[in-house]
Amino acid sequence: MTLPVHTAEATPTHPKPGTTPARAHLLNADTVEQYRRAVAAGTDRVARRVAEANGPFTGVRPDELAPQVEAIDLDRPLGDTTAALDELEDVYLRDAVWFHHPRYLAHLNCPVVIPALLGEAVLSAVNSSMDTWDQSAGGTLIERRLIEWTADRIGLGPAADGVFTSGGTQSNLHALLLAREEALAAATPADRRILLPQLRIIASAAGHFSVQKAAKLLGLAPDAVVVVETGPDRRMRPGAVRHEIARCRRAGLTVMAVVATAGTTDFGTIDPLDDIAEVCATSGVWLHVDAAYGCGLLVSPTRRHLLDGIERADSVTVDYHKSFFQPVSSSALVVRDRRTLRHATWHADYLNPARMVAQRIPNQVDKSLQTTRRFDALKLWLTLRVMGPDAVGELFDEVCDRAAQAWELVAADPRFEVLTRSQLSTVVFRWRPTGPGRDLADAANLRAREALAASGLAVVAGTRVDGRQYLKFTVLNPATTTEDVAYVLDLIAEHAGRHVHEHAGASTADLTCPVG
Ligand SMILES: Cc1ncc(COP(=O)(O)O)c(C=O)c1O
Repeated sequence: MTLPVHTAEATPTHPKPGTTPARAHLLNADTVEQYRRAVAAGTDRVARRVAEANGPFTGVRPDELAPQVEAIDLDRPLGDTTAALDELEDVYLRDAVWFHHPRYLAHLNCPVVIPALLGEAVLSAVNSSMDTWDQSAGGTLIERRLIEWTADRIGLGPAADGVFTSGGTQSNLHALLLAREEALAAATPADRRILLPQLRIIASAAGHFSVQKAAKLLGLAPDAVVVVETGPDRRMRPGAVRHEIARCRRAGLTVMAVVATAGTTDFGTIDPLDDIAEVCATSGVWLHVDAAYGCGLLVSPTRRHLLDGIERADSVTVDYHKSFFQPVSSSALVVRDRRTLRHATWHADYLNPARMVAQRIPNQVDKSLQTTRRFDALKLWLTLRVMGPDAVGELFDEVCDRAAQAWELVAADPRFEVLTRSQLSTVVFRWRPTGPGRDLADAANLRAREALAASGLAVVAGTRVDGRQYLKFTVLNPATTTEDVAYVLDLIAEHAGRHVHEHAGASTADLTCPVG
């Protein structure tokens, strides 16, 4: 039977007689026209702001914006989409931080691709929940195909599986939960109490703090994360990993996992994955690779080799919302051996009774830490179906190229010192005064970052390295040009120089131009 096609014009624009005002807000067959109009109106507001943004931020301060948000009486609705959008302009859209702007150079936030935004609009309206087949149907199959595709790109082999998560923090937690349970697989409940405080995770000093957080959440000892210092290249040294495993074992401790990073947050460096995998294989230790940032290389036409060795991991974190140009949230945990996912399984009679496993009903909740879960996979699906993986990889290659050019620019500029060259797309650097302002360098760099954000002309990140204050560009926008970078460097030098001038009493010009 062919269903009649309802055009926008043919669809009733007013609620059916008898529909209560509250019900008129529910999306159903009677309200599709209001739905179309409301979403189109919202899209239009965003489109206008995106088109008009002449900087990544307005520089608004919390104390300026907070009173406006506070003043809104949430118990007195406006009752009208246009009025609510007008209000939203004031409390959010006008002062939003725009990641699509080429001078947004701060954190690991990417501009987003349009097919993914289409996916976002579809997934929230259909509102599938990915916990069970009976709440998602094709959504489950789509997510499974994407996990399979990602595992294939990594090279994890035929027994691989995984699940979408809310982000890298959750993916890392999930991986370490599986590693913990594998390490304790043979333990009795009494043994577990003794063994739990003896578990150790070996991680890099340049790794992400979510590893420490996960250790805490997993009930491990406060000193459970053994931090291995990196070499000057900011990569974990396989010899140091081997040394720490041996040291832990001599002390009667159990190393439950080594966490290698494919794309460190600050330096964009990739640990020597193959060599670390070899250490883990010979020691029988679970290898988790945090590729939250570096996963973009999985589709890179020119740089895939930088991930060589990742195929030997037991588990891998991938954040599509960092380097696949996907809107937050979109991440996955992928494992080599699907059987390990059972450690997150719980059967509830009302939801996913054990008999469903025998019936081969695919319930993703069986392997997820979450129950109700967004169909984030749809965004990646539409991205791959519209653009294809090569186009995503080209975008990621472009930002890596752009960051390399930015590094050259900073390195050639005597006003700045720059640290390790990134294998991905960050640049860690600092403005360096000479003469009497030298002692003020940390404060000047900090101040430059704040002043820049307050001006709204650019947003950069800051970090501390070896006890000193640095600035950081994270380049994730192919539209960022070297001219943008040069302009931002001039602004930083100006703000930092002014700070030193005001606090050291010397002339700005003297302080921004190093001698020689
Ligand atoms: C290397 C790495 N791992 C994990 C995370 C955490 O990811 P998320 O912010 O998606 O939780 C980050 C975030 O920046 C990261 O850089």
